[in-house]
Amino acid sequence: MSKPVGKFLLLSAVLALSLPAFGVEDQSIPDDSLGLSKTSVYDVPDPDVVDYLGGDPGTNKRLVKSYHTAPPMITHTITDMVPITRDFNLCKDCHVQPDLLKQKITVGMPIPAPVSHYTNVKKGELYMGRWNCVQCHRPQAKVDVLVQSTFKKTK
Ligand code: HEC
Ligand code: HEC
Repeated sequence: MSKPVGKFLLLSAVLALSLPAFGVEDQSIPDDSLGLSKTSVYDVPDPDVVDYLGGDPGTNKRLVKSYHTAPPMITHTITDMVPITRDFNLCKDCHVQPDLLKQKITVGMPIPAPVSHYTNVKKGELYMGRWNCVQCHRPQAKVDVLVQSTFKKTK
């Protein structure tokens, strides 16, 4: 008598375990709904061509800082200088020149990255937390912004 009941219980247990799995599968999210972009997350779209306001390095005036201790804006174009990767960093080639820190910088010379950017300034060892320069330093460009900034600079 107890045998068929045991089988029934086992079957229900198996069904109960497998049912939620079917439910999850039905709720799968399509590729084009995973991110903010309207295309599939597997697409690699071409980035917009950006029109930077600055000219080539060495031809621009320094920009006004928005507030004390702000990272200065990049004055020049950064076309062909980004993305910065492990093996490609043109910013470093021009700006990581600790020897220039003691010199008077005249128009056209790259402004050397300050002492704060090194682990050992005498040996010219850049702190790797500063490697991705464009994380903090940004150029100005003509773009349609998605969200307007309400930031006002301090006096
Ligand atoms: C070919 C050399 C060269 C390269 C490459 C270069 N710069 Fe410059 N940079 C300069 C020169 C020269 C200036 C001086 C102002 C000017 O003429 O634009 C300058 C100015 C700046 C300034 C303004 C500093 C201040 O105190 O106002 C920042 C910030 C800067 N560059 C960051 C960068 C970053 C970040 C990169 C890489 C994406 C980069 N630069 C690549 C030469 C270079
Ligand atoms: C974590 C943010 C951050 C990163 C990353 C960073 N910087 Fe800076 N940078 C600053 C800030 C903040 C200042 C201004 C205050 C200071 O002196 O530290 C500055 C100042 C500068 C200046 C102006 C120096 C002067 O005398 O006016 C230059 C040039 C510069 N950085 C270049 C670079 C370069 C090139 C890189 C990449 C190799 C880089 N920075 C990475 C935050 C950053």
